[in-house]
Amino acid sequence: MQEIKGFSKLSKQAKMEWIANTYFNGDQTVIDNLKSYWHSDESIQKLHDEFVENTITNFYLPLGVAPNFEINDKVYCVPMAIEESSVVAAAAKSAAFWKERGGFKATVSNTNKVGHVHFIWKGRNPASLVEWFNNNKSIFLEETQRLTANMEARGGGIKSISLENKTHLEKGYYQLEAQFETIDAMGANFINSCLEQFSKTLESGLHSSTLAESEKEVEIIMCILSNYTPDCLVKVEVSCPVDELNVEGSVPPLEFAEKFIRAINIANIEPYRATTHNKGVMNGIDAVALATGNDFRAIEASAHAYASKDGQYKSLTNATIDPDGIFRFWIEVPMAVGTVGGITNLHPTVKFCHKLLGNPKAKELMMIIASTGLAQNFGAVRSLVTTGIQKGHMKMHLFNILNQLEATETEKETIRKEFETKTVSHKAVIDAFCQLRGIKVDRKIRKEI
Ligand code: MEV
Repeated sequence: MQEIKGFSKLSKQAKMEWIANTYFNGDQTVIDNLKSYWHSDESIQKLHDEFVENTITNFYLPLGVAPNFEINDKVYCVPMAIEESSVVAAAAKSAAFWKERGGFKATVSNTNKVGHVHFIWKGRNPASLVEWFNNNKSIFLEETQRLTANMEARGGGIKSISLENKTHLEKGYYQLEAQFETIDAMGANFINSCLEQFSKTLESGLHSSTLAESEKEVEIIMCILSNYTPDCLVKVEVSCPVDELNVEGSVPPLEFAEKFIRAINIANIEPYRATTHNKGVMNGIDAVALATGNDFRAIEASAHAYASKDGQYKSLTNATIDPDGIFRFWIEVPMAVGTVGGITNLHPTVKFCHKLLGNPKAKELMMIIASTGLAQNFGAVRSLVTTGIQKGHMKMHLFNILNQLEATETEKETIRKEFETKTVSHKAVIDAFCQLRGIKVDRKIRKEI
């Protein structure tokens, strides 16, 4: 395929034309299709165009909502942006289930974020570097003052800065490690700016110090926040007496609870299962993170690193039955989210999602997102240890087909009951329905079935 220079300088129209000509034999319908996703309001489209580079159109994902999420006695209607069917339905079903049993209880234990200046220092005497750093620590804070003033006014800022000797891992490798409180911002720009200033203070401070010439040389490798935020942690729990775990009519509650706990234990001892198990958790977490304009890649990275904190990749959720017969199910997950900054105050749909949630602060949003992850995991594991996961997927599929066949609401309700209570395939249900109604299914629908 063709190489192009200066693509970013082309107009949006010219970019689409180049794509249509280069990759689609000049097919103009490709351009029409891309344009059909532009927003009708030019100013809103311009806003979207400017979020990233080389924008040609918008990429649609469904935005669903899961109502009835009771978290710390407050009920939310949670927005979820996701392409995978059944996820929103599962979250809503779990939310309603736990609402009847006291809802989700959430706490944020800390909101510390971390960043590093990674550098190489080849001086002979590490103690002299340590001494210099301890004597000059306050200068690092003074020289970042112009960057931290606003954040401090909001109650945040730099919480600590330390020198870490990592030479046992790599020759000459040291870090300046800093802890930050960024309040309602995810804080990436703030943290990275502070770190870059630290690196300048380090270089200039060492050069003007009284250390030996050979001890003044420092090579800054990089300054960057860490997306691993084990001290920015949220915990959410649901609980109820075991005998209230009447999930699917046919499974006795204790049998369900024990099987459920066994499934969680399997995720704790078997990384193959843990990966899929946590993927299900992230179905919920990512969908809310995306809908609220948060960096779901950062959240994913941190969650998976946390899942490995004991040296083996494990489940992010846990479950137990207390001696007094109470079933407990909880998640503990690190999460750096923002309710200000980034696209949160710009993207119209993201703004809508924040408003829908009552414009929560970052801590509250952490609790909402983690609760959705827990709900999602409950729904997935519940299906897995009872009906099997395909039943839910097939139900969605069945209803898509029934809608196309214009089944009435009463007919759909009868069919739903039959499908949920009997071991019967979606195909058999559709065939029976068509026979009853005397419908001849056209080839297109037949193929979908
Ligand atoms: C599918 O997106 C997610 C599940 O595989 C999660 C799980 O297995 O726990 C259903």
